[in-house]
Amino acid sequence: MFVTFEGIEGAGKTTQVHLLHQALENTTIPFVFTREPGGTPLGERIRELLIDPLGQMSPQAEALLLSASRAELVEKVIEPALREGRLVVCDRFWDATIAYQGYGRGLPIESLMQLTMFAAQRLSPDLTFVLDVPVRVSQERLRGRSADRLESEKTAFHERVAAGYRKLSAADPRRFVVLDGALPEEELATVIRTEVLSRWHG
Ligand code: TMP
Repeated sequence: MFVTFEGIEGAGKTTQVHLLHQALENTTIPFVFTREPGGTPLGERIRELLIDPLGQMSPQAEALLLSASRAELVEKVIEPALREGRLVVCDRFWDATIAYQGYGRGLPIESLMQLTMFAAQRLSPDLTFVLDVPVRVSQERLRGRSADRLESEKTAFHERVAAGYRKLSAADPRRFVVLDGALPEEELATVIRTEVLSRWHG
C-alpha cells in the first residue's frame, strides 16, 4: 500500500509524517518512509538544487528536476518496497507537481501529467492525506524560519497551490483524505493512524 502526504508548507505535514512513523513502529507492519524531492542519493542532491534560496531555474527545469528525483525514487525505493509487500509512506509525490508546477507556476497540467506518469512509471498513491490550512495560518507558522526557494514565493503562489490541492482532492475523493491542518496535532494523528490501519487491514 502506498500512502502520501501533501499540503502547502506550514500545514503541519512533516509533523504528521513523523507521528505516523512513531505509530507504525509499535506495530508489526513492514514499512518504508521516504520523501520527495529526495529519498535517494541522487534525489537528495537534486533536492538541494531545488530548494536553494539563491538558486534560479525556469519552471520547466524545475518540473524536470523534480521528475528526475521521482524517477529514481520510484525505481530504487518505492517499487521494490511495494513488491516486498511493505507499506510505503512518502512525504509528497506527484500531486505536488500538479499543485506547485501546474496550478502554482502555471505549466500546462496535461504535459505535467505525461511527464509525471513517465517518471513514476504510472504509479499512483492508494491513499493521500492533504493537510489544508489557510495560507495566512501557514505563513504565521513559518515566520522566523529561514525560507527555502519555494517557501519564499508570494502569497498568491501559495493560494494557487492550496486551491490546486483542493481541486485534485475533489476530483478523487476515494484516494484523498483532506484534513483541517488547524486542528490539534494529536487529533490529526489519530485520524491518520486509524485510516492507514483500517485500509492496511482491510
Ligand atoms: P517539503 O516542503 O515537503 O520539504 O518539499 C520541498 C519543496 O518542494 C516544497 O516547497 C514543495 C516543493 N515541491 C514541488 O514544488 N513540486 C513537487 O513535485 C514536489 C515533490 C515538491
